[in-house]
Amino acid sequence: MAYYFEEPSHTFGEYLLVPGYSSAECTPDRVSLKTPVVKFNKKAGETCPLTMNIPMVSAVMQAVSDDKLAIALAKEGGISFIFGSQTIENQAAMVARVKAYKAGFVTSDSNIRPDQTLEEVVELSAKTGHSTVAVTEDGSPNGKLLGIITSKDFRIGHCPAGSKVKDYMTGLEDLATGKEGIDLSEANDIIWEKKVNQLPIVDKNGNLVSLVFRKDYSTHAEHPNELLDSKQRYIVGAGINTRDYMERVPKLLEAGADVFVLDSSEGFSEWQARALKDLHAAFPGIKVGAGNVVDAEGFNFLADAGADFVKIGIGGGSICITREQKGIGRGQATATIEVAKARDEYFKKTGIYVPVCSDGGIVHDYHVTLALAMGADFVMLGRYFARFDESPSNKLVINGNYVKEYWGEGSNRARNWQRYDLGGKKGMAFEEGVDSYVPYAGHLHDGVGMTLSKVVHTMCNCGALSIPELQEKAKITLVSPVTIQEGSAHDVTVRNTTSVQN
Ligand code: IMP
Repeated sequence: MAYYFEEPSHTFGEYLLVPGYSSAECTPDRVSLKTPVVKFNKKAGETCPLTMNIPMVSAVMQAVSDDKLAIALAKEGGISFIFGSQTIENQAAMVARVKAYKAGFVTSDSNIRPDQTLEEVVELSAKTGHSTVAVTEDGSPNGKLLGIITSKDFRIGHCPAGSKVKDYMTGLEDLATGKEGIDLSEANDIIWEKKVNQLPIVDKNGNLVSLVFRKDYSTHAEHPNELLDSKQRYIVGAGINTRDYMERVPKLLEAGADVFVLDSSEGFSEWQARALKDLHAAFPGIKVGAGNVVDAEGFNFLADAGADFVKIGIGGGSICITREQKGIGRGQATATIEVAKARDEYFKKTGIYVPVCSDGGIVHDYHVTLALAMGADFVMLGRYFARFDESPSNKLVINGNYVKEYWGEGSNRARNWQRYDLGGKKGMAFEEGVDSYVPYAGHLHDGVGMTLSKVVHTMCNCGALSIPELQEKAKITLVSPVTIQEGSAHDVTVRNTTSVQN
């Protein structure tokens, strides 16, 4: 006989947090949002080998997670999972670009030879928009550095036509340079000490490696949470599937991917167990999350199969039509609560803590806090990140408003049918996602900053200075539809509003 769950399933919008006591020490600036990403033996006193500084990851989607978004999110302290519905080469190239990006160290895109003319310097600056031009022996970005020429070094019209760069540049003898391998704060110390606006970094043979600009220092200082690996490179994840993982993963590892996730709409399957087993055998130490599941049975299956974290959620995504198409799924809050409970029981039984991620269905900022309070270690968001400048999708004007495009991996546009197939013979593919617009929301840094400001304030209202403390102390109540209505402005005519609702 079929099994019936006793309670109806619920989603985040049906719950509220009831405040607890906040002491004077419980202030938003003291809250830590640090959270584990992969499993570890907590009982044996191990520390988690991969943690994030904020509990947010971006969805494995074409419209969301490319290298640009990955860099922006790593700067804030979270991780992007670069979408896998592209060729192995393209995905590896995106990962490699994230790993090659060095905050504050810029590859020079304006370079010239010493025998070229000042007119050519002007032309180049107009093209690149940069007034600092590196002079290298062969005019390449990594050629032997001979000097720097900027718009301050000459006045066109006052110099004879055809004047050569070498006669106006600041040559090596008068130039401050930094050695390859120095860190950003050392580079900035030199910039301040020598009173220069930029510092060329050179290797041991005198070849140009990169430039550090005075103006970028403040940008770096704005990101105290940035997530770096042991070589000071940004941490990045990658989505994989249960079909070509043995070809895809080695290329992604070579490119520098730090963590993987099996991206599937339904993860309680032999295909995922096989992939986890093969990957852990072939690449010892690899970190692979799995999912998605929506109950304790699904969690236990993937945890036993070796998942490094487990992702929760079926049918709750904003672009998702899985529930309509197939009639499978569960309210995201109920799924999160049950799976988090299973995670705690698994820990009690085995000593292993397997982090869980609530994926999809986050509409308002407070849903992030609720998901964490309900037991999620972190949340995965698609729609939320698609709205920012840094997402790969187009920004358009529709009816006078700025929007960004956002489409599901199971839509005809993405055609990521592998995410939905069951590994055997390919059936008839049908759509499980839509193609849509979402309101444009500016820079990721500002959006994430605002969201997390709300999260930490609410955590203080609950008397919690960390995510585990929130999970321990949270008092959560289901609310009636009328209570939900009462939660928005009501019985008034709103004149204007400056706050943007997420
Ligand atoms: P959102 O944050 O509510 O937009 O949900 C994003 C999540 O929806 C992703 O992380 C996926 O788990 C899921 N998803 C992505 N594409 C599709 C689709 O086409 N159909 C169903 N679910 C999808």
